[in-house]
Amino acid sequence: MVITSMENAFSLKGKNAIITGGNKGIGYGISLAFAQQGANIAIMARDESTGKKVVDELTEKYGGKYLFYKLDISSMENCKTAVEKAIGDFGNIDILVNNAGIGPTGNVLDMDENMTDWFKCIDIDLNGAVRMTYHVGKHMRDFGKGGRIINISSNAGEVCSKSVNMAAYCTAKAAMNMFTKGMACELARFGIRVNAIAPGFTYSNLLADMPDFALEGLKKSIPVGRLGQPIEIGALATYLASDASDNMTGAVLTIDGGHSLAI
Ligand SMILES: NC(=O)c1ccc[n+]([C@@H]2O[C@H](COP(=O)([O-])OP(=O)(O)OC[C@H]3O[C@@H](n4cnc5c(N)ncnc54)[C@H](OP(=O)(O)O)[C@@H]3O)[C@@H](O)[C@H]2O)c1
Repeated sequence: MVITSMENAFSLKGKNAIITGGNKGIGYGISLAFAQQGANIAIMARDESTGKKVVDELTEKYGGKYLFYKLDISSMENCKTAVEKAIGDFGNIDILVNNAGIGPTGNVLDMDENMTDWFKCIDIDLNGAVRMTYHVGKHMRDFGKGGRIINISSNAGEVCSKSVNMAAYCTAKAAMNMFTKGMACELARFGIRVNAIAPGFTYSNLLADMPDFALEGLKKSIPVGRLGQPIEIGALATYLASDASDNMTGAVLTIDGGHSLAI
């Protein structure tokens, strides 16, 4: 809906959202932000115990409907089943956040001869979002009430780092950015907006193994002098999921404290 005032412009009240990887890290920040803005949420990931914990927390604190679905985004069949179950439980899906992903580093030429790590990264970080968009996009188109698809990309889809080699990840995220634009064109006539968020370093499990001295060094290389917080990605995702962004589609919004300006 086109807004005419800022009153409730960011509200997600009554909207039904699927958030892949909504149980941890950035996805958890998005789950929290959406719940605080009134959305009902289907969290989809592999780890049932953290998923159920987040569902219990949201149910206790906020007034919406929250359910967990076990999903491995590397399986087309799994994606189909989880989406069908969520549609059955919620009636329809208004918002899809393709957040689940991995962040592998390493040299391409040091991979095994089957290039297992390369294909795994592309299969999860790119094709996982493609599979989910296929199933949820079809539902949104056929249900006829439009929708919002938000892809969690990375600033690594726009720039490479001098210090860490991660060509597979950069390739997957760059392709995700173009997938976002292509799908934005394909789905605009159905009222479905497709946008991406490109975070820089953000506190999550992906950074859990990084030693303190490395984290400190990292902060110094970021113009604003700090890492992002998952809830800040949640805030931007809320904008993209809400009516406030109704005129935006095919955008890739970088949120990285200026890191990609100075890599
Ligand atoms: N943190 C950063 O600095 C940063 C920067 C730029 C972009 N990103 C992007 O942000 C997204 C979230 O990452 P994060 O930093 O929050 O990492 P994280 O804390 O490791 O969370 C990753 C999430 O993805 C889910 N996941 C992983 N593989 C999956 C699979 N095969 N099927 C279903 N779910 C799967 C995990 O849940 P389960 O383990 O339960 O399956 C988890 O919820 C990723 O797309 C990542 O590329 C992160």
